[in-house]
Amino acid sequence: MAVGVFDSGLGGLTVLDAVARRLPDVPFVYLGDNAHAPYGVRDAQDVYELTTAATQRLFDAGCDLVILACNTASAAALRRMQESWIPRDKRVLGVFVPLIEALTERQWGDNSPPREVTIKNVALFATPATVRSRAFQRELAFRAIGVDVEAQACGGVVDAIEEGDLILAEALVRSHVDALLRKMPEPQAAILGCTHYPLLQDVFQAALGPQVTVFSQADLVAESLADYLGRHPEMLGTGQERAFLTTGDARRVSDRATQFLHRQITFQSA
Ligand code: DGL
Repeated sequence: MAVGVFDSGLGGLTVLDAVARRLPDVPFVYLGDNAHAPYGVRDAQDVYELTTAATQRLFDAGCDLVILACNTASAAALRRMQESWIPRDKRVLGVFVPLIEALTERQWGDNSPPREVTIKNVALFATPATVRSRAFQRELAFRAIGVDVEAQACGGVVDAIEEGDLILAEALVRSHVDALLRKMPEPQAAILGCTHYPLLQDVFQAALGPQVTVFSQADLVAESLADYLGRHPEMLGTGQERAFLTTGDARRVSDRATQFLHRQITFQSA
């Protein structure tokens, strides 16, 4: 029994931490495609090819269920994968829907018609590819009416985090928040629509101000995974080993992961 967690790089570790805390008995296999990060500047075909290759690697490691802990992959590739690629006995889940269900005050899997919700003005921070896909607005429109979304493509932030340059990453976050606030001066809520961004959640919150509720995905995804596995225990898969795999330089990636998560994490080559 093992569940796969995939991201283009280090960001999915924010999700992995939350799911491992929520489900301590489940062995998780993490795969970071650090050799090809960032995904957010790639086109949809490229993201699809990289995401299917990485997902296959996790199936091969004994995972029947894979979480795409990457909004860019969830936005640009997941729907196409579900339509034509995923084998019948496997499942791949994205990170978008739990977040939008929380924002629109819905229980998991509540597919009733869209309705008015409390939050009317939402700031979305995401990678250029996620913003371009408009997947967030599409999922939101299925569930809520009358919500105004202003999206800010946060170019450069993922690269800076992957390079370990936190000073640059923080400066970029402040300037992206400024740009968003010029377009929407009073958002009620902000979505961190990239799993790298919770590593800088304090910087987002400080730049936005205390009156803005910041939604990030890790805990929401953990709850929804626990619920899913409660209903589908057969999807736990055959693998038994916990592992951190990377397509990049394992030593370098281990150092960065240890720096960000403040505990020793040792990656091996995928
Ligand atoms: N963590 C990925 C996401 O959630 C980052 C994508 C990238 O590599 O640009 O979108």
